[in-house]
Amino acid sequence: MVSVRVLFLVLSVMGAVQAADPSEGEFIAEGGGVRGPRLVGKQQSACKESDWPFCSDEDWNYKCPSGCRMKGLIEEVNQDFTNRINKLKDSLFDYQKNNKDSNTLTRNIIDILRGDFTNSKNNENTFSQVSEDLRSRIEILKRKVIEQVQHIHLLQKNVRDQLIDMKRLELDCYDALQTHPSGAQSGIFNIKLPGSSKIFSVYCDQETGLGGWLLIQQRMDGSLNFNRTWQDYKKGFGSLNDKGEGEFWLGNEYLHLLTLRGSILRVELEDWAGKGAYAEYHWRVGSEAEGYALQVSSYEGTAGDALIEGSVEEGTEYTSHAGMRFSTFDRDADKWEDNCAEVYGGGWWYNNCQAANLNGIYYPGGSYDPRDNSPYEIENGVVWVPFRGADYSLRTVRMKIRPFGTQ
Ligand SMILES: *[C@@H]1O[C@H](CO)[C@@H](O)[C@H](O)[C@H]1NC(C)=O
Repeated sequence: MVSVRVLFLVLSVMGAVQAADPSEGEFIAEGGGVRGPRLVGKQQSACKESDWPFCSDEDWNYKCPSGCRMKGLIEEVNQDFTNRINKLKDSLFDYQKNNKDSNTLTRNIIDILRGDFTNSKNNENTFSQVSEDLRSRIEILKRKVIEQVQHIHLLQKNVRDQLIDMKRLELDCYDALQTHPSGAQSGIFNIKLPGSSKIFSVYCDQETGLGGWLLIQQRMDGSLNFNRTWQDYKKGFGSLNDKGEGEFWLGNEYLHLLTLRGSILRVELEDWAGKGAYAEYHWRVGSEAEGYALQVSSYEGTAGDALIEGSVEEGTEYTSHAGMRFSTFDRDADKWEDNCAEVYGGGWWYNNCQAANLNGIYYPGGSYDPRDNSPYEIENGVVWVPFRGADYSLRTVRMKIRPFGTQ
């Protein structure tokens, strides 16, 4: 582009030189072809005719120009050239100016572009800052998630440990004796019965015989009423302190669960004179559907076999408790036309009616007169007929069990 412009300029200059031909153009229009001095614009020559001799050449005749005329013509041409040069100068100046302007424009454009570039750079910075922010936030969240997951794992482990602990709960007092750190000492232990989610506290006698005895019933002061409903006997009632003192019935449902795989029953008796006796059996308590029926065999002991043999005097057939269903005053399952539980005053495996009843009426002092009872003269004390007879109510009675096959 620049080279083209330069070429144009050169051509213009050449044109200007051509225009200086004396036979044509401005030169003739301004009287260049006329002989003699003449006024030429403001550029009036200061020369005088005397300074210049007339043309002596005859051939030129009147056409011969004077020196002054020559000088004027030269000055005129000079002036013309000066004008043209000035025009060119202006032209060049304009061109340079324009060029400068375009340079400025270019610079401006570059500046603007640079500005945009900087802006885009700023944007890039902003973007990278934002994404950096997001990245760090995501990192923080990730860390938190990991912490939470670890926390959950810890909780899961705790729950597992607790489950193991729960599984470690003893099934009975024999289990406690075998596995519990302080299982060798008699006392309260938490056990979980197989087939039941219930965890409950029981008293374990770890000293009698080989230990492992779970207390299921106790009378010792007559402080608790044992004349209760089917539901009470099913779920149990009464309580024990941590020394194993108190009156209670564990509950037929638990007796059923505890004796499912076979169990040994130990009955401990003590009269008001402090004389003791015991009886042991293999036994099982049926389900509720079976009326919590008593399966009992293999008597052994010093108290006499009241449960299987019953009262020889009154007849085993009427007094044996083996195979009898459990009765309460509100659920009569005995072999008597009347309600044994109602008149004997407690839930038991009545036949027609009994040779033993550890849930009978507690008579302090032991001896009582059945004739005081009405409508029937019923021997309804806490009795074990082979030990102290039907008209003697024992001071202390206990029933304990341990799993079969552990002796
Ligand atoms: C046992 O309780 C029942 C119901 O309250 C009652 O009818 C019955 O006479 C009580 N038996 C004795 C021996 O107190």
